[in-house]
Amino acid sequence: MQESGFISLQNLTDVRVTENGILATLQHEQFRVDVIKASLLRFKISRGGEFDETPTHALAIEPIAAAKAAGVDRAFEVELNEAAGALTLTTSELVLKIQLKQFAFTLSRLDGTAVASSHGPAYRILNNDWSISRSAGALDAVYGLGEKTGKQNRRGRDFHLWNTDVLNPNASGEFAQAHAGTHPRSDNTSTEFDPYYVSIPFFHHQDAVTGHVSGSFIDNGYRGYYDFTAEDHFRIAFSGGQYTEYFFAGPSMADVLRDYTWLTGRTQLPPIWALGYHQCRWNNYSQQDVLDLASKHRELDIPVDTLWLDIDYMDGYRVFTWNKEQFPDVAAMLEQLRSDGIRVITIIDPGVKFDPGYEVFDSGLERNVFCLTEGGDVYIGQVWPGNTAFPDFANAEAREWWGDLNARHVESGIAGIWNDMNEPATGDISPLPMRFDRGQFSHEKYHNQYAMLMAMGTEQGLRKAMPNLRTFILSRAGSPGIQRYAANWMGDNMSRWDHLWLQIPMATGLSLSGQSFVGADIGGFAENSSPELFARWIQAAALTPFARNHNAAGLIDQYAFAFGKRVLDIARTAIKLRYTLMPYLYSAFVRCTEDGSPIQRPLIFDYQYDEAVRDLDTQYLLGEKLLVAPIFEPGIAKRGVYLPAGTWYNWHNGEAVESAGETHGVDAPLDTIPLFVKEGSVIPTWSEDVKSTADYQPVEIALRVYAPSSDGEYHSMLQEDDGLTDSALTGARVRTQFTVTRSGASIKVTAATSGAGFPEFRRERFRIQLIGAVAAEGNEVVLDNSGNGFEIGFSIGA
Ligand code: GLC
Repeated sequence: MQESGFISLQNLTDVRVTENGILATLQHEQFRVDVIKASLLRFKISRGGEFDETPTHALAIEPIAAAKAAGVDRAFEVELNEAAGALTLTTSELVLKIQLKQFAFTLSRLDGTAVASSHGPAYRILNNDWSISRSAGALDAVYGLGEKTGKQNRRGRDFHLWNTDVLNPNASGEFAQAHAGTHPRSDNTSTEFDPYYVSIPFFHHQDAVTGHVSGSFIDNGYRGYYDFTAEDHFRIAFSGGQYTEYFFAGPSMADVLRDYTWLTGRTQLPPIWALGYHQCRWNNYSQQDVLDLASKHRELDIPVDTLWLDIDYMDGYRVFTWNKEQFPDVAAMLEQLRSDGIRVITIIDPGVKFDPGYEVFDSGLERNVFCLTEGGDVYIGQVWPGNTAFPDFANAEAREWWGDLNARHVESGIAGIWNDMNEPATGDISPLPMRFDRGQFSHEKYHNQYAMLMAMGTEQGLRKAMPNLRTFILSRAGSPGIQRYAANWMGDNMSRWDHLWLQIPMATGLSLSGQSFVGADIGGFAENSSPELFARWIQAAALTPFARNHNAAGLIDQYAFAFGKRVLDIARTAIKLRYTLMPYLYSAFVRCTEDGSPIQRPLIFDYQYDEAVRDLDTQYLLGEKLLVAPIFEPGIAKRGVYLPAGTWYNWHNGEAVESAGETHGVDAPLDTIPLFVKEGSVIPTWSEDVKSTADYQPVEIALRVYAPSSDGEYHSMLQEDDGLTDSALTGARVRTQFTVTRSGASIKVTAATSGAGFPEFRRERFRIQLIGAVAAEGNEVVLDNSGNGFEIGFSIGA
């Protein structure tokens, strides 16, 4: 992106206090500060004298109206000292100081710690581009920015935000060529390549000295550039649109993420089957092959919730059609699978074959819902079906049309939709002539939002077709707000050890950016996996939010059973562990939908003031209580695992490890993944073996209670509901809040419940197992319980 030639806008005049903050003249433009709430400010600068009030579809709410409705503190005071050329705006949490002449600002918390400040000229423009700079300490860390490669701490690198079909050299070549031949960024398969499929202009800035975190979100969908390479500042530039920035005070990462997901929306509560094991493959299956694959999983006792159909199920890659020869009776196939507890998900790409006579193409043309060129022709790209038209998702009518097509498609019994190639990928043809909203807007304005808008339309359609059911959409690309409609998988990875590692920081980066429902193709997509790589991959991925085995066409089989008995046993154990943990995992999703807290989270999220975890991207937490340390190198039987200060329990053998906040050597033979539980936790699990989540409601839930090593109170949560409908959101659930209290030699477990219950509920008991201490009463208690509170005590050897 252009570096030089920018003009800086300075000199604020004519400052007015408004209902929401301040408005001032900035040369020929206007500058505005809006107090959204005491800890959240918005800056805007006009272009052509006008403010764009809805720069993208990122926001889930109108923030000022929503803050007013919620009755939050929005009070502020402004002190203007024109003689000194200074202005101060103060809320109950923040102080904003602006130098009027130079247009420079500092934003701090009331205790004086920094949130953000300008570095040099606060705002510069060059034709369509604009650019800002922010001060930073040399050791400050940066997290988030969506789907990015490399280490989770983004400091020291620069990044482009432009949704890219990474493995296609036509799409990614420009970014590869910007680097010399041996640089890892010249290789689109390296773990440093940039940009990727999802672009999220939101990051957490951690002050190295205080450990406090603040957040910045720029609401702009154009091509963006974030440069974190300089020692004392960050530079941010966009190639169009207006400057709109939200500043989050923190000081905790959780506060920042809660507010960011309040603005852009949270993950919807998914259907529980979406948390099961998914089996996908790009392969030319027939109906019988699919049925056989299902039987094979059942025969081999491999739990599985879904089978996925990639592009070959269609008739000549025409979306919303079926290849009738390969799939003569889709309804019968779906019914048979469903009776075995298996659901089906099909791929739907945005590209519509340019094929007069094909119903979808004809109806799109007739309704004028395809993207147009400047001259008014239908834009044509090249995707799987050859010449391809693209739905104009920036247009509401187009989204509705698309939603209806999806609705009709799923009516036969398809459970969910997989959206791919939605960067949008246009093959060998440049996407730039593709314009939006009936030709009114440039490609750049909507490029990064394309996938989000596609998911928006798809979700509308699924809701129409199945009004009482939660929806499931998986998307490759995305932008802020994608989490409201879809999960993301991390695209075309490689069956390589370094890509197995990569899924850790990539997933945690996404989840710190509001998109928590993420996972990478298990076993790797491109190239052939090896037995050991596959074993290690499935062990790790079974403990991530979205667990789907997928591989590219023409490669060796990569099913859980494809690598011989030993690997099959490992895969089965890994998948079964996921199902055992289902109540815990599901409850972590419930939390995420309510406060944005990530599911696969970097340790920095929970241990923000522990310096040792700032650059730790070889392990993560699954929910708040489990610590996962995958093996991502061959031939390893032991690894170092960093355990924050406190007592942790080895999941596999219940052994306690006291940690002063240091790395511990942990055995990890091929059949074992290091997995630890935080003291004081109650981990709810399914006691029975299941083959999928379908129609399953447990009679018993086993609660693993991990003894606290010191006095105090520890909290955990379990939510049970029907797993399928929205009724849980309006109270049809049983939520149990556990408190474990240790006081000397006594451990008390209390449970308080809320919720109105639901018809399918059939739990009769809890099996409570105390781990990590020897109780006089015995360590296992079976307690009749159908959703009521309780209190039990254990007396332990102190
Ligand atoms: C893209 C997708 C991949 C899919 C393939 C064929 O490469 O990322 O998951 O299998 O297209 O549809």
